[in-house]
Amino acid sequence: MANILVTGGAGYIGSHTCLELLNAGHQVVVLDNLSNSSAESLQRVQALTQKSLHFIEGDIRDGAGLDQLFQQHKIDAVIHFAGLKAVGESQQIPLAYFEHNIAGSISLAQAMQRAGVFKLVFSSSATVYDEANISPLNEEMPTGMPSNNYGYTKLIIEQLLEKLTIADERWSIALLRYFNPVGAHKSGQIGEDPQGIPNNLMPYVTQVAVGRREKLSIFGSDYDTVDGTGVRDYIHVVDLANAHLCALNNRLNAQGCRAWNIGTGNGISVLQVKNTFEQVNGVEIPFELAPRRAGDVATSFADNRRAIAELGWQPQYGLEDMLADSWNWQKQNPNGYR
Ligand code: NAD
Ligand code: UD1
Repeated sequence: MANILVTGGAGYIGSHTCLELLNAGHQVVVLDNLSNSSAESLQRVQALTQKSLHFIEGDIRDGAGLDQLFQQHKIDAVIHFAGLKAVGESQQIPLAYFEHNIAGSISLAQAMQRAGVFKLVFSSSATVYDEANISPLNEEMPTGMPSNNYGYTKLIIEQLLEKLTIADERWSIALLRYFNPVGAHKSGQIGEDPQGIPNNLMPYVTQVAVGRREKLSIFGSDYDTVDGTGVRDYIHVVDLANAHLCALNNRLNAQGCRAWNIGTGNGISVLQVKNTFEQVNGVEIPFELAPRRAGDVATSFADNRRAIAELGWQPQYGLEDMLADSWNWQKQNPNGYR
């Protein structure tokens, strides 16, 4: 069992990962500045697991704070979720994205190096792939210039982490390229809690279902896809959380930098999401067909064979589970953690 630092551990994916880490017997230290989350998520993780973790409210950009953390806690590896993630906002305030995501990751890596900790699992995104690639996307395909500043920070961080491992063989880094995380823990006690109007499809759908939003706008119905709406690879957040444990195990005994796609490999359209949500949950989702959203591609789904073969990971949940679990969380927590 290992001592794991989880940056951004109070957030959506981080809280689910903390839960799985605790259940697997690891010791967990969370560093989060709570800029996009609530410490309540971690209270619930501890209640669900009947295990405790150590929470530090702090910032990855604070090198002295990180030094203190590494002195006070013997850390074996870091799972790094902390960062800003709103695509639209990244176009308005790019410097904040460069600072939290890029400078924050550099600050974290510097502190890890000072502390002699060289195992890292990083939250990357399928957005790093060149848009000209045809799905299923595999890890050998070229990366490209993402259409927004958020995606750009993920690409830059991937590249600088890879260069670190080339310069110093003590580093061992996993780049997990998430496709579209959705769903929530079966208990409905933890889940996605976006601030303001959701950018992403699933929280928008659940907020329409719970009556917080009037109707879903489907962005684009003239794509070259099964029904004209955008196709994505939705992955249950618990499967995604478990991919971090698998990546961690892999990295504890390896060197270098390696990327893995974390998706189910199934392409699902927006209309299929809406219709299946209605069928599974018995709730109607009023909708309108709206123009395409700038920066969207028609189709993006994973070739996930590398993660299955090399990490011993296997997604367990299908679309119906994802939609039922998203709704279970939203229904029990109509206003999220507030
Ligand atoms: P989230 O916003 O729920 O979690 C991020 C956490 O980081 C939050 O708790 C926030 O308070 C914290 N944080 C932000 N800046 C910080 C800083 N400077 N110092 C300390 N803490 C800070 O987001 P999430 O959906 O759980 O995403 C986690 C990671 O996965 C992010 O890096 C995100 O970019 C990446 N990712 C998410 C998706 C997705 O669809 N959710 C897809 C691909 C990649
Ligand atoms: C988006 C980001 C991506 C980021 C990911 C996770 C863009 C262009 N891409 O991916 O960089 O890594 O979120 O945060 O923003 N949709 C609707 N109505 C809505 C919302 C979404 O029809 O109200 C559609 C979209 O057009 C898309 C699908 O639903 O076809 C999924 O959208 P979303 O959940 O935002 O994810 P991505 O666009 O794949």
